[in-house]
Amino acid sequence: MPTKREYRDDYPDKTLYIPGPTEVREDVIEAMCEPMFGHRMDRMTDLYTTIVEDTKTFLGTDNDVIVLTGSGTEFMESSILNLVDENVLVTTCGSFSERQANVAERLGKTVDTLEYEWGQAVKPEDVREALEESDTHYDVVTCVMNESSTGVRNPIEEIGDVVADYPDTYFVVDAVSALGGDYVDIDEHDIDVIFTSVQKAFAMPPGLAVCVVSDDAYERELESDSASWYGGFQRTLDYYDRKGQTHSTPAIPVMLAYRKQMKYMLEESHEARDERHREMAEYTQEWAREHFDMFPEEGYESQTVSCIENTRGIDVAETIDAVSEEYDMVFSNGYGSALGEKTFRIGHMGEHDLESIEALTDAIEDVAGL
Ligand SMILES: Cc1ncc(COP(=O)(O)O)c(C=O)c1O
Repeated sequence: MPTKREYRDDYPDKTLYIPGPTEVREDVIEAMCEPMFGHRMDRMTDLYTTIVEDTKTFLGTDNDVIVLTGSGTEFMESSILNLVDENVLVTTCGSFSERQANVAERLGKTVDTLEYEWGQAVKPEDVREALEESDTHYDVVTCVMNESSTGVRNPIEEIGDVVADYPDTYFVVDAVSALGGDYVDIDEHDIDVIFTSVQKAFAMPPGLAVCVVSDDAYERELESDSASWYGGFQRTLDYYDRKGQTHSTPAIPVMLAYRKQMKYMLEESHEARDERHREMAEYTQEWAREHFDMFPEEGYESQTVSCIENTRGIDVAETIDAVSEEYDMVFSNGYGSALGEKTFRIGHMGEHDLESIEALTDAIEDVAGL
């Protein structure tokens, strides 16, 4: 049992380079400070239809968009409930994709995994082989776009093209920590469901999850007896169609922040954000290779979270503390006990740019004596 640690009023501001939450623009934070209004008022319809339609425009998709109060994990669970009767093929290559398998098991589904060592990427040809050679019919194949625990960017576009050859199998992508900072053409690659949390590359305060749903996935859920109530595609999308609102009370202040930030994202564009994130990733990878090494399999490095192999054996925890103390910047250790000191992670997502990433790598160099 934790003891109460009284929250104070005097925490220093730290610049966040962790794999989310990330930095949020000041005026986006300020947008939350409005007198409250009711979630059934016309004003709410203005707000919700604005954020939903702006998100579709930003992502360049004709599919439906749900913005729901919760975090990305909500859609890890509800997409399984909505689409899987029995069998699901979960590709795993790190902690979050393993969590997806665990979630599906807990929901009573029969889970087959296509497993890769941490640091390796999922290969489209293996997915094809698994689908072709198995006697099992899979309702869903899942893949994580950006395995935040290992810094691997999976080739979800090619995997989507493979799954598209199996019309009764739906493709579900966990794009938490990637979407908004790494371009993906959702419709072109037949991605039925793709979801994210807004505190990652959307650079918003946490509290909302975004899910993009194909017509096929919506139709498929209509046949299901076990669809999620809260995260049901039908309930959320039908409510949107009828009223332009959410089925239950949303985190209105976070939606106000969303509206403001999505305007900035539209102004910049999906493609330009992708380019900015690519530059940051390339810079970080080059820096990492000069001083350490990259952890992910070469060619599959994430565009938003670099996982760096601690080849010099620096004390990762100590370095993080010193950088935080001396520079008010926070980056992350490796994920879990296995990677905690063996790797460290830099989140270069959202509002960061080359200059701010260079400021962090300079600070690490200084503190670690590189
Ligand atoms: C790839 C991935 N999936 C899922 C999650 C869980 O997201 P949330 O904490 O918003 O539910 C995370 C969180 O870091 C993640 O990186």
